[in-house]
Amino acid sequence: MTYLETAAQFYREVAETPQVGLCCVQSTPLQLPGLNIPNQMQEMNYGCGTTVHAAELSNQPTVLYVGVGGGLEALQFAYFSRRPGAVIAVDPVAAMREAAARNLQIAAQENPWFETSFVEIRAGDAFKLPVDDASVDVVAQNCLFNIFEPADLSIALQEAYRVLKPGGRLQMSDPIATRPIPAHLQQDEQLRAMCLSGALTYEEYTARIIDAGFGQVEVRSRRPYRLLDSHTYNLDEHLLLESLDSVSFKVPIPEDGACIFTGKTAIYTGNQPIFDDNAGHILQRGIPAAVCDKTATKLASIVPKDVIVTNSTWYYDGGGCC
Ligand SMILES: C[S@@+](CC[C@H](N)C(=O)[O-])C[C@H]1O[C@@H](n2cnc3c(N)ncnc32)[C@H](O)[C@@H]1O
Repeated sequence: MTYLETAAQFYREVAETPQVGLCCVQSTPLQLPGLNIPNQMQEMNYGCGTTVHAAELSNQPTVLYVGVGGGLEALQFAYFSRRPGAVIAVDPVAAMREAAARNLQIAAQENPWFETSFVEIRAGDAFKLPVDDASVDVVAQNCLFNIFEPADLSIALQEAYRVLKPGGRLQMSDPIATRPIPAHLQQDEQLRAMCLSGALTYEEYTARIIDAGFGQVEVRSRRPYRLLDSHTYNLDEHLLLESLDSVSFKVPIPEDGACIFTGKTAIYTGNQPIFDDNAGHILQRGIPAAVCDKTATKLASIVPKDVIVTNSTWYYDGGGCC
């Protein structure tokens, strides 16, 4: 059996017998006015963060959701789009597709605004998405891509890139590892399927997104997810996994490299009203401007040291300069 078949079998089992708390962090799913999430869906919250970012969801976008699980986030995306076929949810596991369809039927009974036609569930997988090139505004996946081995992750990211319209957004939530996960855990297919041992480091994960062609990445959240303790997992020391929520944009990669926003700001402290680096960044004295990490590094190295760069907050949702 391949590791992907092990994962499919695992998800067949947890579709038939929900495992509360399988992947989710200690937070309730995003609540929205007039949205009732059925209990059955809550019990199948197999995501590690959220991919539903309201600011990205104006104008009723078409959303391709990869790895439907119990349908929770498909319902949340449908909340913003509210039209037939607005959300296309893909999953290779028949039992999972059936569970999601059942849960969405219940959601339709509990939410007067929701019709099951808003979410179209399709058989398919992340490596060959059943939609045309440049046909969707948003691709979302929660706690799925981390189970893929690195070469497969790159294929899945390239597929997401293919189906997005220019300017479209890849909204993801995945565990990342605070140091490389040792081979004996990476090779454990069951742990990998449970989102516990396939995670890459932050640097590797973001590099693969950029390698797929995404020119801008925004970090929306980074927080502790699970501890692989040394005793249980046969490690020299504990290994912390974090959950990373990100939005990556299908925009060209600038000549000097992709822009990753992690919440850093630059503040000019000199004796002029403004500072202009002649590379497109104008800072007003004393007023923080959001900057991407690449620009932050450049500004921090300017002599004299008239620009302060603040630390990553691991939350960024717009504004500033690349
Ligand atoms: C950890 S669950 C996450 C479910 C959902 N995203 C959530 O947040 O609750 C992973 C989901 O991906 C599906 N899946 C497994 N392998 C897949 C693949 N190769 N392509 C697409 N989906 C896959 C599983 O059946 C399952 O529904």
